[in-house]
Amino acid sequence: MWPSAELHVHIEGTLEVPLLLRLAERNAVELVSSDPEVLQRRYAFDSLQSFLDLYYENLAVLRTEQDFYELCSAYLERAARAGVRHAEIFFDPQSHTERGVPLGTVVFGLSRAIGEAQERWGMTASLILCLLRHLGGEAASDMIRAALPFRRHFVGVGLDSSELGFPPSLFQEAFAIAAAEGLHRVAHAGEEGGPDYVWEALDLLGVERVDHGNRALEDAELMAVLRERRIPLTVCPLSNLALKTAPDELADHALPVMLDEGLLASVHSDDPAYFGGYLDDNIAALRAAGVLTEEQFGVLAANSIVSSFASAERKAELL
Ligand code: ADE
Ligand code: ZN
Repeated sequence: MWPSAELHVHIEGTLEVPLLLRLAERNAVELVSSDPEVLQRRYAFDSLQSFLDLYYENLAVLRTEQDFYELCSAYLERAARAGVRHAEIFFDPQSHTERGVPLGTVVFGLSRAIGEAQERWGMTASLILCLLRHLGGEAASDMIRAALPFRRHFVGVGLDSSELGFPPSLFQEAFAIAAAEGLHRVAHAGEEGGPDYVWEALDLLGVERVDHGNRALEDAELMAVLRERRIPLTVCPLSNLALKTAPDELADHALPVMLDEGLLASVHSDDPAYFGGYLDDNIAALRAAGVLTEEQFGVLAANSIVSSFASAERKAELL
């Protein structure tokens, strides 16, 4: 197992069914069923939106600081077993504040788990605050302003949720506020949206990394820019299969082409509880598909570390 950095994981997407059930009971939240098999069977999707509908429904069980702490601790423990030595973890504050959960509750719970990561699992970790596209640009700007008092708890800002119809151009103000605060900037782009979404993320939001980016391969000029500027792509193979944003067979996934084209691509898990696996499961599935050499797996792991926002010292330690 190569030491790796996990750069594309949504903490709300690590909510496994047993924890979902436990939190629902603790917080008296009614689920559609109390049968774990029934709940697990709902984890089948035909598009990004079909997944997001369930993801937002389930995260309603997260209510207290302790809930967020337990969710994040469980993820970090599992990630350490997957060979993750550094994690940059997305969280969706608007999905919680909209339900009346204060931002501090979310941030303090997640931060407490992250603060223990080094001692418990020998891992470094940090948070990236993601803005929800489907709530629009104004809500995103309001969210980032409201989060500034918690600035020391996160290292960057990201953009996620429903992609089509919500292009990066709508979020320029929010990303300008983040840039002025010295926050790192990343965005989901080219998952369902076309290359134009990736162009906008680069040109209008100034992102340093593109999450997914699969559809960038449709535009040769864009690929040249990504290659020359060494813009990382955080690729999520099992997510792409589950959401049908890539061909049905992993053997036909774009990842080998990305590497052959000299792009700085790395492998990540996105929403592992929903898509059938953590970082090690994604690597195992790629290995089983037989389209990458052992040397290329080493390159993907090194790319993940190089693409991270970890300090130069930490990167040197991990490479
Ligand atoms: N939120 C959680 N997972 C996501 C994904 N794969 N794409 C967009 N938004 C998300
Ligand atoms: Zn994602």
